[in-house]
Amino acid sequence: MSAIIGIDLGTSTTEAAVYRNGKPEIILNLDHAAVTPSVVGIDQGGNWLVGERARAQALLFPENTAMEVKRKTGSGERIALGKATFEPVELQARLLSYVRTYASEFLGEEVDRAVISVPAYFNDRQRRETIRAGKMAGFFVERILNEPTAAAMRYGLSHLDENSHVLVYDLGGGTFDVTLLEMFEGVLEVKASSGDNQLGGKDFDEALMEWLFAHFQSKHGKNLRQDRYALARVKEEAEKCKIALSTQDTYRVIIPAVCTINGQPVALDETVTRAQFENLTADLLERTHDPIDRVLGDTRLRDDEIDRVILVGGSTRMPMIVEDIARFLGRAPEQPVDPDFAVAEGAAVMAGIIAGEVDEREGLVMTDVNPFSLGVRVRDERTDTVMSVVIPRNTTIPTERTERYATASPRQTVAKIEVYQGESRDVTHNHFLGEFEVKGIPPKPAGMEKINVTFSYDLNGLLVVRAAIVSTGEEAMIEIHMGRDEEKPDVSAWKTAPDAPRFRAIIRRAERAVAQNTLPGGLKERVETLLFKLKQALIAGNVHDAERAEGELTAALRKTEAQ
Ligand SMILES: Nc1ncnc2c1ncn2[C@@H]1O[C@H](COP(=O)(O)OP(=O)(O)OP(=O)(O)O)[C@@H](O)[C@H]1O
Ligand SMILES: [Mg+2]
Repeated sequence: MSAIIGIDLGTSTTEAAVYRNGKPEIILNLDHAAVTPSVVGIDQGGNWLVGERARAQALLFPENTAMEVKRKTGSGERIALGKATFEPVELQARLLSYVRTYASEFLGEEVDRAVISVPAYFNDRQRRETIRAGKMAGFFVERILNEPTAAAMRYGLSHLDENSHVLVYDLGGGTFDVTLLEMFEGVLEVKASSGDNQLGGKDFDEALMEWLFAHFQSKHGKNLRQDRYALARVKEEAEKCKIALSTQDTYRVIIPAVCTINGQPVALDETVTRAQFENLTADLLERTHDPIDRVLGDTRLRDDEIDRVILVGGSTRMPMIVEDIARFLGRAPEQPVDPDFAVAEGAAVMAGIIAGEVDEREGLVMTDVNPFSLGVRVRDERTDTVMSVVIPRNTTIPTERTERYATASPRQTVAKIEVYQGESRDVTHNHFLGEFEVKGIPPKPAGMEKINVTFSYDLNGLLVVRAAIVSTGEEAMIEIHMGRDEEKPDVSAWKTAPDAPRFRAIIRRAERAVAQNTLPGGLKERVETLLFKLKQALIAGNVHDAERAEGELTAALRKTEAQ
């Protein structure tokens, strides 16, 4: 079977790793570098550039270069690049496609299966978009894994006998995540996750840029904010300055000929002290406190019950972060994992578990939580847009919860169940997941008939919602694949493909296994995806791919039939 790789698709940088010889190993890109800038561009000839090459042209052709695309995931915004505009997912797919190329080169085999990590605080739409980008790049996305959970798995792998509460603090280029886990004899139990998808190193750069612009304007009377070229250069220098201030007290930002005034080139020249920089970004630091309070509140843990704070993400190298955590939690954070590679390595560990390569005696077992509340739309005295929560946020999954509701109007015979995700009391502010109807309610006065609504949610993101009329037992349900891209094309035409007869038996066998529900969670999904791939290959007349899918299907089925 082909290898599954783990990918940390970051706002600023992307890393990939594979689990082999009993440990995660970082995959080098085509330049033999471990870190690839998350930058995509188009060169003068109209060719795509990815990674270092795209970053290198950013100063010369800022309008042809896209950075920090991840922050726009799921926003519906389009990104201008050259003369065209793109969906964020198309540009993310370019990055992933480069990862697929270099991973295939590095491993010496075609790589097309991946575990991709996302911020724990990504919502369902952002997760779906990430999967879509993976698919566009030619990957089977085996699993979407929360970044702090991945980092904790990396840590857990080398600290299997530790029993403790661990807080993972991940401040990267564009996002902030906090996750609280309990480690107990090799079991990693995520207790709560929170975060801010719009807070990262990029915002610290921008605070500094704003300060540089303001100073330049007051000295020279010129506003550089509108000048694309100046903007790109100031951004680059601001980040350099920020990084330098992590290890030194002052830094001089010099940008020669940043613009011309009255035909004369003018330089930007400012000295920034660490204290000034910390002052400029105090409000950003303040914003990290809320998510920490939230995970502590949701888990009902006191700060002195946290045994360890683990730092992940490049931005945790800022001394003010370390000092702030020590002040806020009364405990110095540690850096037992590599802040740049822990997420990719943890994703590779997850990939190793899926591929059955991590020895089960090593005992790394993981549970997770749902970072957002799940519920249904109900009516109260004033409005009919109230969110009634069935599974509160930060509930350990897998889980099943039931709530009982009453009919809202006289002689009501049908109830529409609308399912939402989010924290607002008004469902219209939350994310709509799906709806269905339960019919045949005996006509009675309002409130006389009761309906039990049950949510069950598993680790693969499958949410099943059932509604049952209590008096009659009549039931209806919906299956929602959270963080799964559902728009699969119809492949029923495989039956008439020329090579169909050769593959009919294995297809039947796999379909039967899926229908009879005999496959354990992760495997069912895998078999379904392989079935889909096989049928698609048959329709396309691609016997080579069909045979490959057949081989993998046989192996997957053998695994369960042996049990
Ligand atoms: N020594 C340093 N001091 C301060 N900031 C740093 C330092 N080194 C890197 N950074 C910042 O860390 C950020 C990149 O971190 P990282 O690669 O972990 O983010 P990412 O994984 O790409 O983003 P995200 O996880 O938010 O999607 C950048 O903003 C970079 O400027
Ligand atoms: Mg990151």
